[in-house]
Amino acid sequence: MPALIAPSILSADFGNLQRDCEMINNSDAGWYHVDVMDGVFVPNISFGFPVMNVLKKYATKTLDVHLMIVEPDRYIQRFAEAGAHVLTVHYEACTHLHRSLAEIRKHGMKAGVALNPHTPVSHLKDIITDCDLVLIMSVNPGFGGQAFIENTYRKVAELKELIDKQHCQTLIEVDGGVSENNAAALVKAGADVLVAGNAVFATANPSATITQLYKTANS
Ligand code: DX5
Ligand code: ZN
Repeated sequence: MPALIAPSILSADFGNLQRDCEMINNSDAGWYHVDVMDGVFVPNISFGFPVMNVLKKYATKTLDVHLMIVEPDRYIQRFAEAGAHVLTVHYEACTHLHRSLAEIRKHGMKAGVALNPHTPVSHLKDIITDCDLVLIMSVNPGFGGQAFIENTYRKVAELKELIDKQHCQTLIEVDGGVSENNAAALVKAGADVLVAGNAVFATANPSATITQLYKTANS
């Protein structure tokens, strides 16, 4: 399967969200990446259900929701109802991660786990077969437009090795500072999904940029 590009809605124009959805629907993007921040787990607040409702109405592709919130279990059902297809919780926010992932699957969604830059991949050894997706943060979560952390390549390769060793189908997603400069190397290391916010929406022609990123990633 070719690597997918997932434009991050965090960098979209919220005054023209329907327009940006139509751009993504008609582009080479594979998924929508949707960043939900609570101002507690991360030092920023993004958006919640009103924006999810707009996406549910206009988006025609997979809604990949990244919860940067404490106590994510409280909202699993609400996100299922709001149209999330993939729901990712942070390793650092879950005391009972196994239970959280099971709950997400029970609600008909793919279950993802995100790792902050300081969290080792080895912490997933006993849970990887229960993860549909692992999101490697390549910046500290909270904001778009930050610089890519180079150690990410090593983490992606280590995660790929863990997944292969345990014969599971877990997808690897990389989130933060992804651009044309690192897309090909990330896919070579094992990434399946590349999130891109600033690299897409800060350009004059976001649709053309998505195509370019897709081609570079799969070159
Ligand atoms: C950061 C978010 C990212 C962010 C990526 O906390 O999880 O998804 O939108 O944005 P860029 O691609 O601009 O780093
Ligand atoms: Zn994200």
